[in-house]
Amino acid sequence: MRVLGIETSCDETAAAIVSEYDGSFVIEKSVLASQAKIHAQYGGVVPEVAAREHAAFLFPLLEELGVPRDGAGIDALAVTYGPGLVPALRVGVEAAKALAWCWGKPLVAVNHLEGHIYSVWLDGEGKIQNPGTKIQTTQSNSVEFPAVCLLVSGGHTELVLMRDHGEYELLGMTRDDAAGEAFDKVAKLLGLPYPGGPEISKVALNGNPRAVNFPRPMIESGDLDFSFAGLKTAVRVFVEGGEVGRWGGDLDIADIAASFQQAVVDVLVSKTLQAVKKVVPRSVILSGGVSANKLLKEILESELRRVAPEIPFYVPELSLTGDNAAMIAAAGIMRAKRGAFADPLTLVADPNAKLN
Ligand code: KG4
Ligand code: ZN
Repeated sequence: MRVLGIETSCDETAAAIVSEYDGSFVIEKSVLASQAKIHAQYGGVVPEVAAREHAAFLFPLLEELGVPRDGAGIDALAVTYGPGLVPALRVGVEAAKALAWCWGKPLVAVNHLEGHIYSVWLDGEGKIQNPGTKIQTTQSNSVEFPAVCLLVSGGHTELVLMRDHGEYELLGMTRDDAAGEAFDKVAKLLGLPYPGGPEISKVALNGNPRAVNFPRPMIESGDLDFSFAGLKTAVRVFVEGGEVGRWGGDLDIADIAASFQQAVVDVLVSKTLQAVKKVVPRSVILSGGVSANKLLKEILESELRRVAPEIPFYVPELSLTGDNAAMIAAAGIMRAKRGAFADPLTLVADPNAKLN
């Protein structure tokens, strides 16, 4: 099966062609137009601006991808229908509906977070990975279920139990800001550009993570929910309250960034370990934009090795941690194989789409 994936849920316009042979995925080509620089001037993503840019870039991207105008050779289309910013989502959804309708090809509606999960089955362009469940191959990346998934992006922070392909149960989620959102807001506060996650982690390399003991919200709440708004406020109070000087003047932005990052990572790792203890999964998956964070990857991996050395841990390849359309196409292939198609006459973008 050869699927065209389209992703426009936030500030990346993306398209990709992914093929599946005997249960293995190949990214034939994946293209992306990032709007990060445009939104950086506003300090965050402006939905209407994002939609305008998606509309301008999507079809040129399909040309770059080499999609034939009659859809020849494409078996199905997969598009992100939510969650995300409605004006942005709508551009991809309406384009995919129009193409599916014209070409007479099946359409699959993919949840953006499900796409992030499937990024761990992918392995860069042209390489093959096996998405098999029960069929174990020599390839390292064949995830066994149930899997505990820590999904950390700019809009979401969730712990999800994946029982099988397409079967999800929400274990816990953030009650306010997402982890990536907290990174972005704290970066803004520290005068760092958008998107803030990569900036904070870069600056934090030169800081002392134990310089400031920021709160670890809800770490011992007894459930698997998160809250990052209070942590962001704690950083603001610290910065605006002149605490920096009061601590002797030798604390700098790097120490604050490192201490903040450590607090976020401590909470994410602790909650994931609590989830692992509770459901005893056969795999652990970390994905979403924040899975690019080196400290998070390293600490989660080493803690898992310590408490549950037998459970494999999967993280997407760095180039696939952020939004991309290959992951949407891969998730779409698995849905298409189950016959879960959407109607090109009625599909609508859903900003609050839930994993199901
Ligand atoms: O999944 P994603 O690309 O888009 C959404 O679905 O939201 O995630 C973007 C988020 C942003 O908040 C960005 O700051 C964060 O991922 N991010 C990081 C890092 N790289 C990206 N956060 C922490 N550390 C990073 N290295
Ligand atoms: Zn995303």
